[in-house]
Amino acid sequence: MNILFKNIKELIQIREKHVNFLSGKEMGILPTIKNAYLLVENGLISDFGDMRDCPKIDVKTIDVTGKMILPSWCDSHTHLVFAGNREDEFVDRIKGLSYEEIANNGGGILNSAKKLQQTSEEDLYNQSKVRLEEIIQLGTGAVEIKSGYGLTKESELKMLRVIKKLKENYPIAIKATFLGAHAVPYEYKNNKSGYLQMLIDDILPTIQKENLADFIDIFCETGYFSAEDTHQILAAGKKYGLAGKIHVNQFTAIGGVQIGVENEALSVDHLEEMRTEDINILKNTKTMPVALPACSYFLSIPYTPARKMIDTGLPLALATDYNPGSSPSGNMSFVVSTACVKMKMTPEEAINAATINGAYAMNSQNEVGSITKGKLANLILTKEINSYHFIPYSFGNHTIEKVFLKGKEILK
Ligand code: NIG
Ligand code: FE
Repeated sequence: MNILFKNIKELIQIREKHVNFLSGKEMGILPTIKNAYLLVENGLISDFGDMRDCPKIDVKTIDVTGKMILPSWCDSHTHLVFAGNREDEFVDRIKGLSYEEIANNGGGILNSAKKLQQTSEEDLYNQSKVRLEEIIQLGTGAVEIKSGYGLTKESELKMLRVIKKLKENYPIAIKATFLGAHAVPYEYKNNKSGYLQMLIDDILPTIQKENLADFIDIFCETGYFSAEDTHQILAAGKKYGLAGKIHVNQFTAIGGVQIGVENEALSVDHLEEMRTEDINILKNTKTMPVALPACSYFLSIPYTPARKMIDTGLPLALATDYNPGSSPSGNMSFVVSTACVKMKMTPEEAINAATINGAYAMNSQNEVGSITKGKLANLILTKEINSYHFIPYSFGNHTIEKVFLKGKEILK
């Protein structure tokens, strides 16, 4: 269906020419057109510009006086396929236990894995689709979803098949990541290398055969997987055509950022603990740093030093990390707001990080992330607001009136 939006108060994130991503030096500018029109044809953005040049054509027209349009959020890091929740661990943390202590007591990733292993594929799909529908209403138009709560061949594949089914059944753009190396399961407690070998020799070939993943990921962290393990996994993924995305420098810096860059990882995510050398290694590379401020908020750990990274010229993307342990929320508007409040990113930087740079971090920059002719008409229509600064300012409130995927309004 074709739609003409007219009298848009401000059309945000205009990119006339294709850009891959924005560096720290470019992120401070957010191109917009005031009093604009936007034409959608066959699910794609086909034209936009100043209202004075609005075409006089016979299509369904929506007058959005007083409201703004921006591209949907691009959430490049989620684990939204999971079974059950972990609110008991949340209460344990309030009472003083740390994330590490909880994990050592049988909680954490292994707790989620146990629940997921006992959940049927159908039940897992039904639980996950509720979260997907929820984030669509919150303005997300492209999302990456990881496995990593299976930790056996059967359950990792179950997760990836659920992601594939979500991809087939929903209009949102979805990318899948194989995160078998999320934690070492009990059965391999004293045989981590055997577990990694199983992921590589046993699961990767099936993933390729069934076309179940776009990327490969690993939790590079003290007590989980080392920098050497990270190299092994990323190199193996590459052989199967899977670009790397790493969980790295969340609690400790153990050299994973360098391994990521050396293996041409698409993104390095978390980065709460950044040494100067980690920042320097990322300069002039194609690897996108991704900050997950909702995780810092929820676990009360440091925020990624976004100001320092952007000021040194590095690009940055923002994502939710939606998962049951460290960020049980897929709300990108909250992430954008938190990035401004806690990481001192400007609204321009935060919106760029949550759209075009997020799209790059999941290799979707040709389809989504900006108002560019030919891209998917995945759009957020705001309520009546005075300036786009209101979006991060009005934290926790609903500034979104409607969402569109491929030009179609997604009804609640
Ligand atoms: O990105 N850091 C590792 N993985 C997830 C959390 C996993 C969990 O606690 O279930 C994250 O924060
Ligand atoms: Fe994560």
